[in-house]
Amino acid sequence: MCGIVAYIGPKDIPSVILVGLERLSYRGYDSSGISVMSNNDITTWKKSGKLFNLSNVFKTLNVNAQLGIGHTRWATHGVPNEINAHPHLCPNKKVSIVHNGIIENYASLKKDLQNKGHIFRSETDSEVIAHLIDHYFVDSLEDAVRRACKDLEGSYGLVAISEQDPNKIVAIRNGSPLIVGLGKQDNYLASDINAIINHTKDIMFLEDDECVILTENTVTVTDLSGNTLNKETQHIAWSPEDAEKGGYEHFMLKEIYEQPTVIRSILSKHINDNKINFKHLNLDKRSLSKIGRFIIQACGTSWHAGLIAKYWIEKFARIPTEVDISSEFRYRHLLSSGNEAVIGISQSGETADTLACIREAKSKFFKVFSFVNVKNSSIDRESDGVIYTHSGPEIGVASTKNYLAQLLNIYLFSLYFGFSKKTVSDSELAGRLDELSQLPDLIEKCLQLNDQLKVIAKKYASSRDFIFIGRGVNYPTALEGALKLKEISYIHSTGYPAGELKHGPIALIDANMPIVCLCPQSDTYDKMISNIQEVKARDGKLIIIASEGDDSFNDMSEDIIYIPKCSQDLTPMLSVIPLQLLSYHISIELGCNVDQPRNLAKSVTVE
Ligand code: F6R
Repeated sequence: MCGIVAYIGPKDIPSVILVGLERLSYRGYDSSGISVMSNNDITTWKKSGKLFNLSNVFKTLNVNAQLGIGHTRWATHGVPNEINAHPHLCPNKKVSIVHNGIIENYASLKKDLQNKGHIFRSETDSEVIAHLIDHYFVDSLEDAVRRACKDLEGSYGLVAISEQDPNKIVAIRNGSPLIVGLGKQDNYLASDINAIINHTKDIMFLEDDECVILTENTVTVTDLSGNTLNKETQHIAWSPEDAEKGGYEHFMLKEIYEQPTVIRSILSKHINDNKINFKHLNLDKRSLSKIGRFIIQACGTSWHAGLIAKYWIEKFARIPTEVDISSEFRYRHLLSSGNEAVIGISQSGETADTLACIREAKSKFFKVFSFVNVKNSSIDRESDGVIYTHSGPEIGVASTKNYLAQLLNIYLFSLYFGFSKKTVSDSELAGRLDELSQLPDLIEKCLQLNDQLKVIAKKYASSRDFIFIGRGVNYPTALEGALKLKEISYIHSTGYPAGELKHGPIALIDANMPIVCLCPQSDTYDKMISNIQEVKARDGKLIIIASEGDDSFNDMSEDIIYIPKCSQDLTPMLSVIPLQLLSYHISIELGCNVDQPRNLAKSVTVE
């Protein structure tokens, strides 16, 4: 959570930082601030609320500065007001810092510093960092930062500047992402590539306990003792346009419409000559055959993808699979018989709960594989093998295209395992790959449902609650539909396995309750019909997702959404699309902020 941008060079400092912060505002957007160094003097501006409150300040200012640091916040300690916004300064204003993460021992550090005469202004954990750096300052900012970090417990990506060492920016990382962008006569720091990709594609990814010192013309990376390290620079393939709205009103809508392209690109990356391959899985045939159980762990939408993975892996590869929510996984008593592998699923690759599980699993000598979108993220680097989900940058806080990309990659992974274990035959693999080649076109067809969903959204936008039901491989789709709706429209919504309704939730149903029923053709179709009848008998308002050509629902509801026919295993990749569009249009109807819903952040780097 929280986004950091820093810049040293000849360009207009506030503009570079503000554009970067705008691109990072999916990481947090409750307040923001900038410090710049002009003539060896630090000036700071902070505003609560959305970033435009800060941008407005600079419309009438001409700031001539040599370097600057900026921050967009997702509050952890202290309410989102101006005082708690970053940058934080030490009392004599000689040091200014921005921080992403949590300092767990801040209370005791603060007390010690207060006893030494330091006066604190904010309620944040982060302010203590500025005071500590000031406390340790002798003659070099990097020495002071490295010494201060030895006292810090918790996670941080932090960036500091000082009037006493005014021509450099110093940053250090422990648990929260930080990247360095190398320009021609300037240098950049950010929480994520999107923030600076319009300036440079030459990126250095900082590891934990690495400190970087930027001047206009140099980038020096050291360890915590000050020894210089040789770091590789990587050239990034993403284009600046990938992080733009491209004519769409919102990133979420753009990302929904990118899905056919994403799916085409994944298919071409992983399928060659009718064989599935994963370049970065690092798993030979012998090790593969030894895996006797998968334990999947993930959060939110990625967890829903994990629930579907269980169906596919057990069906195709015949390997028992458990699925845990990451924040629960760590605290259960995991039993091992020595043949398990842990799978992490994460778009950002930085979700703290998921990362913590991976570390826990590795400490217990489990093999760890991950499905990750962001290359070089912590989960990518710390897993034994990776499957990149290849959805390109996802900026909308509500995950859409990456969920679909996760599903397709997991589906391919299940077939790959099944084929290797011979639980999937040559002919079955060929048939399934043949069907997959149609998938992008089927998704295009689902996108043509947009106008119908706009109308349905208008009709139901004033509802206070929603229920989503599904069975089998479409039960997780019900959970995903409910999550999409609640996170961007603030309507209370919940997903259930349809057979579970009668065990309690059916009491909620009356004539005011919309129920979204996922009922494409499947093994549980007849059972689903019975559950839908039970809802109908209690006057529930039915919105039905069914397979094209199925006229069984004509007298049950006016709102039937037909997705193209396909095998039941592919239905989750189609049925979720109308649910994404439904939640998008309801959010628009209600005037909510689609891309930046309240209280959320895209990359959840706190546990
Ligand atoms: C919901 C959503 C979140 C994320 C969750 C995990 O639309 O995006 O629920 O899925 O925070 O994030 P990642 O996948 O980055 O680990």
